[in-house]
Amino acid sequence: MLRGFTKVQSMVEVDPAAFDNFAGDYDASFTQSLLGKMWRRRVWRRLAKHFTAGQRVLELACGTGEDAVWLAQQGVQVTATDGSAEMIRIATEKAHQAGVDGRITAVQLALQELTTNHQPSTTNHQLFDGAFSNFGGLNTIGDWRPLAGALAEIVRPGGKLILVPMGPFCPWEIGWHLLHGQARVAFRRLGGRAKARIGPAAIPVWYPPAGRLRRDFAPWFRHLCTESLGLWLPPSYLEHLLKRWSGLFGRLNRLEEATARLTGGWGDHYLMVLERR
Ligand SMILES: C[S@@+](CC[C@H](N)C(=O)[O-])C[C@H]1O[C@@H](n2cnc3c(N)ncnc32)[C@H](O)[C@@H]1O
Repeated sequence: MLRGFTKVQSMVEVDPAAFDNFAGDYDASFTQSLLGKMWRRRVWRRLAKHFTAGQRVLELACGTGEDAVWLAQQGVQVTATDGSAEMIRIATEKAHQAGVDGRITAVQLALQELTTNHQPSTTNHQLFDGAFSNFGGLNTIGDWRPLAGALAEIVRPGGKLILVPMGPFCPWEIGWHLLHGQARVAFRRLGGRAKARIGPAAIPVWYPPAGRLRRDFAPWFRHLCTESLGLWLPPSYLEHLLKRWSGLFGRLNRLEEATARLTGGWGDHYLMVLERR
């Protein structure tokens, strides 16, 4: 188990093992998609801005390790965690193939297993320089304050958090499903909680408004910025549109990059940067 974390099984709401069946297809269906690559390049620019070579960074819900490997290639030491054993197995293999396994420690750990009921590290060099979670890993819990408290114990003052959850207001999703006569699906996120199919399993998913996430982290983390990710670009299940009109979506991507800070928490995802007080 990761040093400094205590497991509290009773807090687990979603069993991340549900993601085991999804792991084998994840890179082909998302990581290698046009949209997945466009979005990830933008997240990497933010990671590069805040995490530098020699730092120790914690990743939550790392999936198949795409970001962990990239950060390790930039010289960052990454502790990559995920609740799914299969995701961790693939991430470990990917790190090995990329020749960066010396810079990545992959650990199976569910978000709900983190708690503030542990002794914080006592010296600064034991604390993480930052933490991040990309592409929806935070959406399987419905209360982010305990997680914020736990992260506050292990991230050094001045350390950055970069969080990329799915947001509650996705105009593309609303428009697309209304156009197809699916009003219930169109507005499913606005209630804050919905069911999502992950392979054969249906799991609850929460969609935190940016303001809610900010408030939950506010006692320990100062908000630096929030930007849209997937506002003018559609959700990943509409990848076929991108393939058809790649020029148009390339321009929309540039528009989105230019306006992302103005539209804050709107979009399929949003990216929030916070700083440990
Ligand atoms: C959509 S994938 C994103 C993976 C990766 N962050 C990326 O950028 O490709 C969501 C990941 O979150 C993990 N996950 C979901 N709920 C989790 C939880 N409660 N605790 C830990 N990991 C979780 C899943 O196993 C999966 O790997």
